[in-house]
Amino acid sequence: MIVQLRPLTFADVDAVHEWAQRAEVCRYQTCGPNTPDQTRSFVRAAVDAWSSRPQCRFVYAIDMWGRRFATDAARQLLDKAFTKHKLHRVFATCDPRNTASGRVLVRVGMTYEGRMRETILIRDGWRDSDLYAILEWEYRQSTRGALEGDLNNQPSVAPSG
Ligand SMILES: CC(C)(COP(=O)(O)OP(=O)(O)OC[C@H]1O[C@@H](n2cnc3c(N)ncnc32)[C@H](O)[C@@H]1OP(=O)(O)O)[C@@H](O)C(=O)NCCC(=O)NCCS
Repeated sequence: MIVQLRPLTFADVDAVHEWAQRAEVCRYQTCGPNTPDQTRSFVRAAVDAWSSRPQCRFVYAIDMWGRRFATDAARQLLDKAFTKHKLHRVFATCDPRNTASGRVLVRVGMTYEGRMRETILIRDGWRDSDLYAILEWEYRQSTRGALEGDLNNQPSVAPSG
């Protein structure tokens, strides 16, 4: 585990604004790039929605990209969804042009289920959304497989030195 998940608080507003003001980070999002006021409203709404809407969004500052943080966070969220909250199905959507996001969803074991046409209006027009999902039994199989893989990959002889 490389990422530690915790609820967002209003004290995180500066850290959120660090990415929310950047066009490249917001490219496939419905909102942004934000003014400081827009980020304050966004964080306030996200904090208020915490207990009522089981919905997440992955966004990292650019200098954090490509370090498997989103993959690690997604794995932890799936574990919470299936182990703690006993869900049967978890789904995710992303812009088809957002290759990094699609890679994360596949890497955590989700299956591509198809493309929904023109679901969201963003700055450059109506965008399609790719749908990915994983079922509880698929998650159990994949985590069991990963565990067996880990055990099989362990050296049979303890490394010396
Ligand atoms: C999408 C996002 C959350 C991914 O976070 P991350 O921590 O960089 O993701 P990871 O490092 O765990 O994995 C990224 C994967 O995409 C790949 N990738 C990264 N940038 C890529 C690019 N420009 N083109 C193709 N693949 C890319 C990586 O190689 C990796 O795949 P791999 O595991 O098969 O090697 C991050 O890029 C981000 O914050 N983007 C802006 C906000 C956003 O679009 N969020 C998603 C909303 S649906």
